[in-house]
Amino acid sequence: MNSLEVITRPFLDQQPGTSGLRKKVEVFQQPHYLENFVQSIFNSLENYQGEVLVLGGDGRYYNRHAVQVILRMAAANGFAKVMVGRGGLLSTPAASCVIRKYGAFGGIVLSASHNPAGEQGDFGIKYNTGNGGPAPEHITAAIYAESRRINRYLTLDTADVDVDTPGCRQLGDLQIEVIDPVADYAELMQSLFDFDRIHALINSGLFRMRFDAMHAITGPYAVEILENRLGVTPDTLMNCEPKEDFGGGHPDPNLVYADELVEVMFASQAPDFGAASDGDGDRNMILGRNCFITPSDSLAVLAANAHLVPGYRQGIAGIARSMPTSQAADRVADKLGIELFETPTGWKFFGNLLDAGRVTLCGEESFGTGSNHVREKDGLWAVLFWLNLLAVRRESVSDIITSHWQSYGRNFYSRHDYEAVDADGAGQLMHRLRDLGPALRGTIYAGHEVAFSDDFSYTDPIDGSVSEHQGVRIGFSDGSRVVFRLSGTGTAGATLRIYLERYEADPSLQQLDAQRALADLIAIAEQIAQIRHHTGRDCPTVIT
Ligand code: G1P
Ligand code: ZN
Repeated sequence: MNSLEVITRPFLDQQPGTSGLRKKVEVFQQPHYLENFVQSIFNSLENYQGEVLVLGGDGRYYNRHAVQVILRMAAANGFAKVMVGRGGLLSTPAASCVIRKYGAFGGIVLSASHNPAGEQGDFGIKYNTGNGGPAPEHITAAIYAESRRINRYLTLDTADVDVDTPGCRQLGDLQIEVIDPVADYAELMQSLFDFDRIHALINSGLFRMRFDAMHAITGPYAVEILENRLGVTPDTLMNCEPKEDFGGGHPDPNLVYADELVEVMFASQAPDFGAASDGDGDRNMILGRNCFITPSDSLAVLAANAHLVPGYRQGIAGIARSMPTSQAADRVADKLGIELFETPTGWKFFGNLLDAGRVTLCGEESFGTGSNHVREKDGLWAVLFWLNLLAVRRESVSDIITSHWQSYGRNFYSRHDYEAVDADGAGQLMHRLRDLGPALRGTIYAGHEVAFSDDFSYTDPIDGSVSEHQGVRIGFSDGSRVVFRLSGTGTAGATLRIYLERYEADPSLQQLDAQRALADLIAIAEQIAQIRHHTGRDCPTVIT
């Protein structure tokens, strides 16, 4: 079968953000837009001819179309084989698992994570390398450079391929293997956690839980793992039927968007444990009865208890957290005598540390937790980790977190997001903070003295690459911090994120509500950054 060369012109807006290229569906629907980006990915790679590519996505609108486009282009560009999840589906962590397990050259993941889906929603595409992780910056930069000079792409003139029936078929010289999107991932989870013990807890009659897949990709994974293998009853699983528009919702597992689950977990007679995952299955939210565990605390608790879980019984090598994530995990690393790394926002920055064996657990405040088992954050993995802890410790979620704070102190933490604000205003705010920079040092705000202020820059300890302008940090002499940065995943205007953190060692003061405990810092953030003035908003859109 001859490949077809299609003449095209560059789109100048195909710069990958924090996690691949994300745009409105209608942007992707422009003729040649998707094809240009896919060819730009291939053009940025070397020696992929004859290799294996993994392909799948979160099932959102345009996923099915994009899968067919990519299969034809992979064939025309000379890949030997594509492993595609049945129905074009693979959660982000499952894609990572499959790339690693089968030694694939890389993978293409179709997802805009938790961003709303459907014809009016967002679509996204990202490239993962052979280690299963998101392409590092030098590759995303190369893809972007290719996208700005592309003038042709290769495809085939063929009918759609059946991706709904498992098994192998041919498309020209390309072999296509349609795989069960859940099986390899479920097997990996079973190898890490004590399923017998979790099964015993779930079936003890003393434990009730809820899992909310938010109409997105984790539905089938939850059915196989939680229901078929661990024995939860079907009514435990909420919204587990994936939909192309995610049921019209915003599948971001946080206190605002996962309100259906939050209501259940904060009712009287609430279940013992609640969890949710996002659009593509890499995020998680952990709740206990009337209790919310911040992702930063979750990372710290998992690290402190990892020895209780079979997959980590040998101990953990180190922990990495993104810069804005609270310093709760630092205290655990300190106590365990292991390394702690502070990286820029985005999972791709953990890849080198994981590959080099320097860290075992990683986490981001943005509801992302994971380990060296794959190279993406992993929602269901975090849920299973917590279930394993609960099964071993047989304590409530709130008792576990309270005793953790008693031992390590509590890092009160919150993130305030101002979504879809005017991009110029947000840019000016950041610009001003950068200008103020070191001059803030020594200034006292409401009794808090600024100890440092900088624009975070990271030098990768493994390959020496430098990433600058990763967010403005203002640190106070009592260890409190306020961090400002602009989102790299939004698709409308700009999203300003403000991260607030304060340490409290005294157990009698640790039960305060976080917003109250952080009230001083919230006021200081406004005073320094003039958020109202620059965003035209009185309050954040989302508080987590
Ligand atoms: C957000 C999160 C970040 C996460 C990314 C992809 O990026 O803040 O931690 O890695 O989504 O899930 P942001 O929009 O802040 O650039
Ligand atoms: Zn996601």
